[in-house]
Amino acid sequence: MDKDIQNSSRAFVIGHPIGHSRSPMIHRYWLNQAGLTGSYDPVDVAPEDLPTFFRALKDRSSGFTGGNVTVPHKEAIITLVDEIDETARLIGAANTVWLEDGRLMATNTDSLGFAANLDETAAGWDHGKRAIVLGAGGASRAVVHALLARGFDEVSVVNRTASRASTLAERFGPCVSAHGLENLADVIKGANLFVNTTTLGMAGTEVPPIDFTTMASDALVTDIVYIPLETPILAMAKHQGVATTDGLGMLLHQAAPGFQKWFGVKPVVTPELRQLIISDMEAH
Ligand code: ATR
Repeated sequence: MDKDIQNSSRAFVIGHPIGHSRSPMIHRYWLNQAGLTGSYDPVDVAPEDLPTFFRALKDRSSGFTGGNVTVPHKEAIITLVDEIDETARLIGAANTVWLEDGRLMATNTDSLGFAANLDETAAGWDHGKRAIVLGAGGASRAVVHALLARGFDEVSVVNRTASRASTLAERFGPCVSAHGLENLADVIKGANLFVNTTTLGMAGTEVPPIDFTTMASDALVTDIVYIPLETPILAMAKHQGVATTDGLGMLLHQAAPGFQKWFGVKPVVTPELRQLIISDMEAH
């Protein structure tokens, strides 16, 4: 085992603000399950303090072995670590950092988490050829990366701001095309998978009507937003009789690789853990 990995390792989640993060609940559940003495704590780090935080991480003075990085630091940290892997490079953002042989490494586990959630809840989801991804931000890049890695031939990125969709499509090459929202009704026809990566329909915004019934007969609609568990887009698809998967599993599964890096134990996403987070969501 790498000398940086120990049962008593200390890990963090940094963001700004960080109060909303459910990652501590997930990692503390796994620490408890495995009987480890390590810790996982939220730390609010403002953008201007990020370089200092990473210097202390690298020279070990912070006492941390690694951790998760969330909004708004996922892109900025790429230039602050010693090495990013191919996944983080392609996505252009990282969410997990760890020390390995004295070097600070970073990857992006959102893409693996997205795929693992569908593997668990909708086996065969990756047999389809064509996917629609709504949104063109960082989360969308992680989803597009996962879809190409799992063999989708065509990924249509649909976004309110069409130019952002074009920039994303150029980044990933010829299998990815860009569209404005006005083309959604056309491109959705015959698609096997629809992924929402936007907050459309939340916080008072209206979801434009989407006809999911024109998708292929094996169609699946999923959302990476998990608050609420049934987002307006999932509710609409369900109402139309189309199969759906919520995004909570992605949150749980994206956490697993980091836990293994910091504490040396492979954690399991259990129904009990899922229920723990749902209960917390209901309480707040
Ligand atoms: P993230 O990194 O989480 O993906 P982001 O970079 O802020 O976040 O991207 C948010 C995405 O949600 C964008 O695709 C955004 O569309 P624009 O690029 O046009 O801004 C999309 N989005 C957010 N609110 C929306 C709304 N009310 N209607 C349509 N799209 C919306």
